[in-house]
Amino acid sequence: MIQQLLLSVGAISAIASLLAILMVITDATIGNYGIVKLTINNNKEYEVKGGRPLLATLMDEGIFIPSACGGRGSCGLCKVKVLEGAGQYLPTELPWISEDEKKQDIRLSCQVKVKQDFRIEIPEELFNVKEFRGRVESIVDLTHDIKEIIITLIEPSEIEIRAGQFIQFKVPEYELTNEPVYRAYSVASSPSDKTRVELEIRLVPGGIGTTYVHKYLSEGGEVIFNGPHGDFFLRDTDREIVCIAGGSGMAPIKSILLDMNCKGVNRRTRYFFGARSKRDLFLEDTMAELEMSLPDFTFIPTLSEPKDGDNWEGETGLVTNILDKHLGKGSNVEAYLCGSPGLIDACVAILTKHRVPEELIYYDKF
Ligand SMILES: Cc1cc2nc3c(=O)[nH]c(=O)nc-3n(C[C@H](O)[C@H](O)[C@H](O)COP(=O)(O)OP(=O)(O)OC[C@H]3O[C@@H](n4cnc5c(N)ncnc54)[C@H](O)[C@@H]3O)c2cc1C
Ligand code: FES
Repeated sequence: MIQQLLLSVGAISAIASLLAILMVITDATIGNYGIVKLTINNNKEYEVKGGRPLLATLMDEGIFIPSACGGRGSCGLCKVKVLEGAGQYLPTELPWISEDEKKQDIRLSCQVKVKQDFRIEIPEELFNVKEFRGRVESIVDLTHDIKEIIITLIEPSEIEIRAGQFIQFKVPEYELTNEPVYRAYSVASSPSDKTRVELEIRLVPGGIGTTYVHKYLSEGGEVIFNGPHGDFFLRDTDREIVCIAGGSGMAPIKSILLDMNCKGVNRRTRYFFGARSKRDLFLEDTMAELEMSLPDFTFIPTLSEPKDGDNWEGETGLVTNILDKHLGKGSNVEAYLCGSPGLIDACVAILTKHRVPEELIYYDKF
């Protein structure tokens, strides 16, 4: 009996090894797709090396599709309309693609590979996204786990950005990654400062991008990023503005507020910021200055777990509860939210309860 069992296990192992060898051979022979034609928007043609993911292939041609997870299929940002060449949907794409998007041939560009002639459509503005080289001017601790990074542009020397948009930062090969990866970071500075970008980056323990920034990046070092990306920016209306953020979600909201200050926007604006305790709260001085200079702006920070030594006299509790308490009638409100998916989903529920129209709730989930 035991002998038979051992024989079966041996046979299964042998078949598995054979299959693995066959897969390697197949990849080395059939997997050589040669040069294929990539057509974009029916008017631009590229000869590209076949076999690589569409996202990486486009990047090689200087075309940068938004992505936040570095091509791991876990952010769902890299959607592209593929008219020809992509084949069946892959299981890794399905969680991100709605039935409606399937009808429009929307695919995850980091998952589909360019193995034959390909035809895609992308928004024309993506051709304006550029790759930038910059130098780290300063790195400052904003909290125990958030750093402010100021980058002065080298080439191109200026960036045109809308307040609230993000860039994709290139993390070079280092201890935690054997190939460069990209991570999305919102620009925290005012778009009027075209020669520099400021980022606010929170350390995710073990995270590839944030460990690099927090432990390896130094002042004077060179960095590469591409951008601008995203449609999280202030809409030009007369509605009241409600901003909500937590942690490094501060970054794009700060940029929006600085831009409003530059342009003299006088709409009623309330900014709810959630932190755990005093050590997670930052930029209070900047917010106080904005309260003085913007005509109708209130900063409402709240601590969910203030410590005894914090001497906190402001709002206490979850940002959702404080939002619920202050919001009032929301039908004339539009809202801008930035933070973790949990924070955003909970706040959207409160906003809609107060009759803020769902289509006027804009957010970036980090
Ligand atoms: C549009 C956009 C704008 C963004 N702007 C900013 C910004 O201004 N500042 C900023 O700090 N971040 C921002 N992010 C998040 C950022 O892109 C990275 O996801 C984050 O920095 C983690 O990257 P990492 O490489 O260190 O971690 P990874 O190596 O990608 O992840 C390591 C592990 O941590 C988990 N993880 C990833 N992110 C988080 C998280 N936030 N909290 C807890 N666990 C996590 C992953 O699931 C994984 O298990 C933004 C994201 C998006 C989509
Ligand atoms: S899903 Fe994140 S880059 Fe494709």
